[in-house]
Amino acid sequence: MDAEDSYHEYLRLDELLSLQQPRAPKDGPDHTVLSEHFFIVCHQTCELWLKQILVDLAAVEEAFLTMRTADLERAADLLYRVGDLLRLLHEQLVAMERLPLEDFANFRRYLGSASGVQSTQFHQLDRKLGNAARTGILYTAFAQGVERTGGTVAAIVEAGVAAGTEHRIVEGLLHLGNGYMRWKVGHVGLTSRMLGENTGTGGSAGVGYLMDRATLPFAELRALRGRVHQRKSGVAGTTAGRGASASD
Ligand code: HEM
Repeated sequence: MDAEDSYHEYLRLDELLSLQQPRAPKDGPDHTVLSEHFFIVCHQTCELWLKQILVDLAAVEEAFLTMRTADLERAADLLYRVGDLLRLLHEQLVAMERLPLEDFANFRRYLGSASGVQSTQFHQLDRKLGNAARTGILYTAFAQGVERTGGTVAAIVEAGVAAGTEHRIVEGLLHLGNGYMRWKVGHVGLTSRMLGENTGTGGSAGVGYLMDRATLPFAELRALRGRVHQRKSGVAGTTAGRGASASD
């Protein structure tokens, strides 16, 4: 087996690269098939990265069961990695804005009722992170782990860097929560640019539906961080006499 064979076989490239199958007729304009290929690659790579994100987050949840410092340190690194992967997925949406509208309008009918809203992996991620109305699985697992060690998340947020590894976890959760929101906002922008006021293939109202669903995960952590300001401003001499500014 030569090096090229082993690379192809290790990555199962024959299978992987045969999975991009545009449905637009080959006897139509070439550029439509090319654009549909681009559309498929964007969605498939998104699903691949979601797969990685979900296994990474499963490892993070396991660390919240043991609460050992070494496990938590690895978990913090994974949270930052997941945040970076979400940034990558956001960049991919920006690239997708280069999908030529005319071609999209040509091949969109071949999607049928297929829509990202049916993405099982995406829904799993959504449940892990939660949103403004619903606490996510990750936050609950972390808060329970902290309580088992006799602490509270509020105390960790209050302590900041002095809380060490647990502080890094809090920062990591917020890093990926904001990354997720960035993806959602990017997706609204892309959808609005590609569909205008049209409804989605999944049957939703389109942009309005997506706007309503774009809320920030980890509301609990955001509220706890807000309380740090209240406590600090209650300490005599820290903010007294300072006028409110746009950066407050
Ligand atoms: C031209 C590009 C795209 C358009 C026009 C578009 C459009 C839409 C629309 C209208 C919805 C709402 C559901 C519906 O009625 O169909 C939706 C949902 C969704 N799309 Fe896209 N999308 C695009 C690209 C992508 C990409 C690249 C991904 C990555 C996998 C993606 C993932 C999702 C997900 C996960 C949802 C559910 C969002 C939620 O429930 O909050 N979309 N999309």
